[in-house]
Amino acid sequence: MARSFGREELIARLRAVSPTIVPSLLLCDFANLQQEIERLEAAGVAALHFDVMDGHFVPNLTYGMTIVEAARRVTDLPFDVHLMIENPEEFIADFRAAGANIMTIHAEAVVDPRPVLEEIRSLGALAGLAINPPTPLADVEACLSYCDLILTMSVMPGFGGQEFDDAALAKLRELRGRDDVAALLEIDGGINAATVGKSAEAGAELLVAGSAIFRSDDYTAALRQMQDSAIAGAGA
Ligand code: DX5
Ligand code: ZN
Repeated sequence: MARSFGREELIARLRAVSPTIVPSLLLCDFANLQQEIERLEAAGVAALHFDVMDGHFVPNLTYGMTIVEAARRVTDLPFDVHLMIENPEEFIADFRAAGANIMTIHAEAVVDPRPVLEEIRSLGALAGLAINPPTPLADVEACLSYCDLILTMSVMPGFGGQEFDDAALAKLRELRGRDDVAALLEIDGGINAATVGKSAEAGAELLVAGSAIFRSDDYTAALRQMQDSAIAGAGA
């Protein structure tokens, strides 16, 4: 069983290396998952992002606990599990048992995110809340204090390789400016060499990238280029 992380320890660990690029395991080579994870770890990534899709909340179907559990057996990296599913409350205990360290639910998938976020915390994981580009921050105002991570989507969830939607940037800027928000700020979707700098400049601490990494033949070079741009953007 991989080392577990205390919640405060994990937040501090990720904040200490932010802004940082977090690879999204959606477009990777699942026939060689261990090798892919080892390559990413060798490239110095701080966490892995798992895109769980159920074919109902989003029009795509990916994987469940089995893949998270398999990955958990080959790395101690923190797992950032993005639950693009309906009824996430039915699965969070299983994903925690599989090795998830962060579990992010979608505000659009539940009537009230707060009890689900509370349960994620009670399981010892970081509680994340994702909002899609059309969803205003006002819709989740009452949930912000229940979040250890807030994911502002820069694409509609469901697929890798989509165009970046700037809608996330204003939300990031607003969240970054609020003294009452201590959550890690994450952005996901269309993150590449052209968009990573402005995303970090807007306040993103974790920047999830899929196609920009897995469609390149040199993961280390792709990650380093985006990491350098993110650091430059954050310093802007
Ligand atoms: C989309 C997923 C993202 C996506 C990122 O629903 O949540 O994590 O896989 O892929 P790119 O970086 O290619 O947009
Ligand atoms: Zn994702």
